[in-house]
Amino acid sequence: MTVRLIDLAPTPARLLDVVLAGLGRTPRALPCALFYDAEGSRLFDAICALPEYYIPRVEAGLLRAHGPAIAALAGPGVEVVELGCGSARKTDLLLEALDRPAAYVALDVSKDALLEATGRIDRAFPDLEVWAICADYTQPFSLPAREGPPAKRLAFFPGSTIGNFDPDQARRFLGLVARLVGPGGDLLIGADVPKDPAVLDLAYDDPRGVTAAFNKNILARINRELGGGFDLTAFRHLAFFAPERSRVEMHLVSERDQEVAVADQVFSFRAGERIHTECSYKYSVDVFRGLAQAVGFTPLETWTDPEGMFSLHYLRAR
Ligand code: AVI
Repeated sequence: MTVRLIDLAPTPARLLDVVLAGLGRTPRALPCALFYDAEGSRLFDAICALPEYYIPRVEAGLLRAHGPAIAALAGPGVEVVELGCGSARKTDLLLEALDRPAAYVALDVSKDALLEATGRIDRAFPDLEVWAICADYTQPFSLPAREGPPAKRLAFFPGSTIGNFDPDQARRFLGLVARLVGPGGDLLIGADVPKDPAVLDLAYDDPRGVTAAFNKNILARINRELGGGFDLTAFRHLAFFAPERSRVEMHLVSERDQEVAVADQVFSFRAGERIHTECSYKYSVDVFRGLAQAVGFTPLETWTDPEGMFSLHYLRAR
């Protein structure tokens, strides 16, 4: 089969609006969705291969160990909808475990990563109908009208990406997913849990500097796509766990007083001033199940690894 593409990628004009608004805010903040251009997606893959960044390794172990239980809960012939597939490294584990899935619908804002991932899945699962939707999945969107009988939907949201939403956004987003899959539809979602701050600090500030490069790529992207004037050597990566909010924060810190032009606007930074680029919330199992309940899901199963590093939840929409 061939991959069917629907392109709803945000336009450069919208990107400029988002960047100017974020840099003009106090405190300055850029949405973490901006990390994921082609280079950012490549750097994120490199993060996922780091020993310090435990999430992909532990989650893949849970998917392998509990594949049969997941398949039993999902039932045969489901339509898998992956929200923010990136390079879709864990998708194979899910598709292999499921009983004759009918279709795989992948959404991602990064077109290169999306096309590469769906092309690979299409070749690996020749009987599967594969759709690629290039879109910001946090904005309302509709799914393609597929041929054949309607299938039960199983949304897949691995990697603890839910942690990149603030709690209100997470509630809204999960509510949107509940409506997307419909009553009786399912969501398989990974959520990272609070743990020793030293483990988290290392996971988000690795000694090789890959996460630092990923964080700075947001400025490099502004330079590339919007003609921005950021000097990447004049900002440093900062990441730490804030226990009172149960989240890891990432920032870019100005090393000196400086002025940076983006389009026709000039932004003045003081030495030490930060741009907040990402939050990564960590949810205990009980808190996450409560959140899912509150937005219309019934938690059917939760799996954790023996060290309690990560949780994988199987939820059903009411
Ligand atoms: C994609 N997301 C779940 C990652 C996280 O852990 O918040 C992004 C990331 N940021 C730094 N390292 C990885």
